[in-house]
Amino acid sequence: MLKGAGQIGRLLPTHPRYRALHSKLVPARNAQTRVMTSLSSQRSLTNLIVVGDVHGLWDESDVRALEILRPDALVFVGDIGNQDVELIERVSALKESYNLVAVLGNHDAWYTLTERGRKRAIKNALQSSNLKHFTSLGDTGAYTKQQILDMLEALGEAHVGYSNLAFDGVRASFAGGRPFSKGGVQWSAVKDFYETYYGVSSMEESGERILDALMADGGAMPLVVVAHNGPSGLGSHKHDPCGVDFMEPEDDFGDPDLEEALETAYMSCGRHAALVLFGHMHHRLKYGGLRNMVSVDERMGAVYLNAAVVPRVVHVDGNEGEAGKRKRTKRHFLRVLVGKERVERAENVWVEVTEDQADEGCPDRAGSMLETVSLAEEDTECILERISDNQYRIFKAHTNEWIDITFDH
Ligand SMILES: [Fe+2]
Repeated sequence: MLKGAGQIGRLLPTHPRYRALHSKLVPARNAQTRVMTSLSSQRSLTNLIVVGDVHGLWDESDVRALEILRPDALVFVGDIGNQDVELIERVSALKESYNLVAVLGNHDAWYTLTERGRKRAIKNALQSSNLKHFTSLGDTGAYTKQQILDMLEALGEAHVGYSNLAFDGVRASFAGGRPFSKGGVQWSAVKDFYETYYGVSSMEESGERILDALMADGGAMPLVVVAHNGPSGLGSHKHDPCGVDFMEPEDDFGDPDLEEALETAYMSCGRHAALVLFGHMHHRLKYGGLRNMVSVDERMGAVYLNAAVVPRVVHVDGNEGEAGKRKRTKRHFLRVLVGKERVERAENVWVEVTEDQADEGCPDRAGSMLETVSLAEEDTECILERISDNQYRIFKAHTNEWIDITFDH
């Protein structure tokens, strides 16, 4: 039986274990505290670089940024574009250089996931000058279905939705939640999609598929779960990691099938994720304020990280690159350092890209761009650090404070 909102990280205040845990919590620290540690002292760690919801903002400068970030594994949590096959193919090409892991999001099936999306495709086709292209493929349904298949084929094994993956030399194994999730408990709107592409006919069946993926490896390495939307059970306020902020009432919008699979793996054989990575619910709340992007399960020490800092590309000085001028942007990545068994640290990393129009007076280079890609220590913002065997310090963006969380061993 699925729970609408589960027990992960929560116990009733009257429960004796809750009181024991609560008494261990250290009062909130200075809001401005920044926990910085030199990366050079942490070479034995696995360096995961996570790209939150891209929403079309990915170009060659981001590929250059990866050369600086040097990931042991590169993780995309979906919503790369609006069913943008060409962009997915560019991301897929990163397999040549990196250990790539991805789970696509609801936007990646923008014209296919729901009836509303399929109508959107028909409307676009009718308005498109490319109508011949659609009709030559039979109908918009056939066209958009082929797009989904093309995206999944391009990603291949790197797409870990309902599956799992490990890489030689990387001390972590990866398992995927439900691909293309749009969040919440409603199944009817997406029923046809999951039956067509995955043979999954209910939320319960979906939970079983995720559980199979979680249990597929032997448990020797830290398990990293990747999903587009996080699990339910992380709180029902709009500022919680999976809380809904775009409609009333505020509620837990996490995936119940993912929560159920995580819970069952833990309760049945003690198998737990060291890390659960996801996106979907953006860090800026629709009606103001910031979302808490970090959570820690107090029983098993699993770390939950929402990577959806959107937009992931920001202009630094308001200059959006008029002709002949300097254009400076910062691009967001989430860096997670994983130790032998647990996450050790997570930080937002903003890589700066400066593009200068080459000197018009130089005939060889007139019109070309000079690009600098750089990362300064002040452009990293720690959001989680392990401070002892069984304690994490995490940043709560909603209240701009740090708290310490003790977990059971
Ligand atoms: Fe999404």
